[in-house]
Amino acid sequence: MHLTDRPRRLRTDGVRELVGETTLSASDLMAPVFVDATTDERVPIESMPGHERVPVAEAAARVEEVLATGVEAVVVFGIPESKDAHGSRAYAEDGVVQRAIRRITAETDAYVVGDVCLCEYTDHGHCGVIEDDAEADPTLTVKNDETLDLLARTAVSQAEAGADMVAPSAMADGQVAAVREALDDAGHADVALMSYAAKYESAFYGPFRDAADGAPAFGDRRHYQMDPANRREGIREARLDAEQGADVLMVKPALPYLDVVADLRREFDRPIAAYNVSGEYAMLHAAAEKGWLDLEAVAYESLLSIKRAGADLILTYFAEDLADRL
Ligand code: PBG
Repeated sequence: MHLTDRPRRLRTDGVRELVGETTLSASDLMAPVFVDATTDERVPIESMPGHERVPVAEAAARVEEVLATGVEAVVVFGIPESKDAHGSRAYAEDGVVQRAIRRITAETDAYVVGDVCLCEYTDHGHCGVIEDDAEADPTLTVKNDETLDLLARTAVSQAEAGADMVAPSAMADGQVAAVREALDDAGHADVALMSYAAKYESAFYGPFRDAADGAPAFGDRRHYQMDPANRREGIREARLDAEQGADVLMVKPALPYLDVVADLRREFDRPIAAYNVSGEYAMLHAAAEKGWLDLEAVAYESLLSIKRAGADLILTYFAEDLADRL
């Protein structure tokens, strides 16, 4: 047999890396950080090994740990001291995220991103203002247009605290335009905006909802987050956000939605981000704990695959562990 084309020639150790199509580096990664107003001590998050909720006083120290691994960007999530129907601690000047961002920007060189949503701050756990009858009728949940103003206020309060970028994640129609306009009106035209453009109603968010105490008290998020069945709609969502001024377009979750990542890479000329979410992290840890998977290897392969699909940047709980090894 005479084979002229032998792909195996390029798989030897000397040449593999030269012909490698995808690389992963610490500068591709963003690390989530949880700041908790209800604690004076660091509290480990059980379902997300290696992650903790830290008090505001420890926020800068926590971010220094991230920076020491080579990761330069953090996304700040907050657990407030109290919750109410309108999530008012999300946009309070002295809210937990605002206080944390002030400290982090004053004391570190990190690039700081604020997650802009209300679900951690509302007593009902939904991502906005809800209809009066929502509890009785689960098809009625978040009032879209009434929520926009609160998201815009949240983003402005984070920018005022020093955030470099804000990331609206409530899946309210028009949230990017509302946030962009409010930032610009408040003199924050330089603050970047990363939209959770294609955010699916996913069961992979389970561990995060425990970590951030943001599970809905009733019903679910299927009337505002996207249906996992829909691929074309991901492009539509991203187009709306691009038109409204999103600088970076995100897909969330990442691994079960790599087709959507690839679609957005092809369709848009903006950076594409992917959120490797809590469940994607927790399942690899759980299997590794049982001795069924090699954690380092599967984490690396997961993130490499997300980049190969077309993501430029990845928000991941593996950021520090991976960066440390790269
Ligand atoms: C807020 C928000 C959520 C996540 C990030 N921002 C939760 C949700 O939509 O329920 C989940 C992230 C993860 O699972 O890692 N809306």
